[in-house]
Amino acid sequence: MTKIEAFRPAAMPVGAREAPPCAFVAFGAPGDLTRRKLMPALYNLTLPGLLPERFAAVGVGRRAWSDEAFRGEMERAVGEFSRTDGVDPEVWHGFAAKLAFVEGDFEAPATYSSLARKLDALDRDGALGGNRLFYLATPPSEFPVILQRLKAEGLIQPPGGEAWTRVIVEKPFGRDLESARALNALLAHVLDESQTFRIDHYLGKETVQNILVFRFANSMFEPLWNRKYVDHVEITAAETVGVGTRGRFYEETGVLRDIVQNHLLEVLALTAMEPPTTGGAEDIRGEKLKVLHALRVPWDDTIPRDVALGQYRGYRDEPGVARDSVTPTFAALRVFVDNWRWQGVPFYLRAGKRLAKRVTEVALHMQTIPLCLFGRQDVCERTEPNVLTLRIQPDEGIQLQFASKIPGHDLAVGSVLMDMKYTEAFGGEPPEAYERLLLDAMRGDATLFSRRDAVEASWTWITPVLDYFQRNPPQGFPDYEPGSWGPESCDDLVRRDRRTWRTL
Ligand code: BG6
Repeated sequence: MTKIEAFRPAAMPVGAREAPPCAFVAFGAPGDLTRRKLMPALYNLTLPGLLPERFAAVGVGRRAWSDEAFRGEMERAVGEFSRTDGVDPEVWHGFAAKLAFVEGDFEAPATYSSLARKLDALDRDGALGGNRLFYLATPPSEFPVILQRLKAEGLIQPPGGEAWTRVIVEKPFGRDLESARALNALLAHVLDESQTFRIDHYLGKETVQNILVFRFANSMFEPLWNRKYVDHVEITAAETVGVGTRGRFYEETGVLRDIVQNHLLEVLALTAMEPPTTGGAEDIRGEKLKVLHALRVPWDDTIPRDVALGQYRGYRDEPGVARDSVTPTFAALRVFVDNWRWQGVPFYLRAGKRLAKRVTEVALHMQTIPLCLFGRQDVCERTEPNVLTLRIQPDEGIQLQFASKIPGHDLAVGSVLMDMKYTEAFGGEPPEAYERLLLDAMRGDATLFSRRDAVEASWTWITPVLDYFQRNPPQGFPDYEPGSWGPESCDDLVRRDRRTWRTL
């Protein structure tokens, strides 16, 4: 395929809305999430001056760490995991002075009184205005006790006052509809929905946000974005890594809960939603919800026939995984969005670990041309339909495949590619998802966070499928080789429709 160079735009303005003064409190601070994602994100936000001067980050956990020890640990974590090279000693010096640690058990009321004292002192010394952003970076089993203790200790201010309190909750939000409802009920008991920030880090990815910009800041694509022109849509989230050290967690989760219920459905909702009335959080989230309500996986009586599951060879040898595990590490689904725009257009979803390539993308396959005008059937048969690809990661960008005459005296048609790459067009890597999401939570912008009703709608949709496979465990696992594109059943799913998956 020939490549046509991306048009290079003029320098883009940087949206630099600074966050207000606040204290950020991470429960589970010694854990992986804080080290790998949260601390590097906060550090990287200080570099362009997006974190307020009046800011503090407090870690809470069971380690016997002093403030000094916590700072040392976090410096090592940032050095190892930040997307930027190394730690700038001068920047770090200023940032480290804002870090503090509170040791304690999440069950113990004393932990919360120490935290309250620390936060009061930070408020006084740093003029943080009493604003607090709590982050539950712990296993979900710890959420209830932390939320209840925060409330009991008076650490949660009701909305509408001078100082704000917000809580970020990490996925998974439950493990089925019932537990998601229970978690939401607990959150609603402790917090107002406007204070609740359910994080799905996919929504913080630049390229996921760009789905909306691409669709609604251009006039030429939207008229084609429907069943009249789109033949089918493929959404892929493929990883090369296995479950690594997260075997125990993954055994409880599996790919349907880990990726499909949240990341893939968020991407699907942004791809399929109607234009919102405004760009405000509630309008966008309202439109996404409608997509989830219209989502259907076909059932043959009691069998979800368009769901193919797989497990990579070697998964059962991973630490924390049962030797006879039937947890799927791969899923492919054929689903429909039953509304006016998308009726009859299949959306093929696939996600898995230990696949051939790390790639997340949305591909819209346009319909074939209605008539061959070139007098030669062979020419038209070789004309591939247009494909528009939104590349979420890596090689973030957008590609359009279209047919072109191959130069020469004969009539021959080939496919060419218009290829916009973020790095070429804008220079540099896009920021990490957590940077944007932490900043938005501090600013009180919930657009990129999951709302209660959407979380419940996605569980309503997927829980019957999970229940089916709970009652009818998949047979023949493991069934795909690491480094392949998944099990045979994945190909069968599209072959039934006389289609093939895109070669990635
Ligand atoms: C997480 C899942 O939510 O997303 C992981 O729990 C997965 O299993 C990860 O590896 C993928 O995220 P990213 O940003 O690396 O595509």
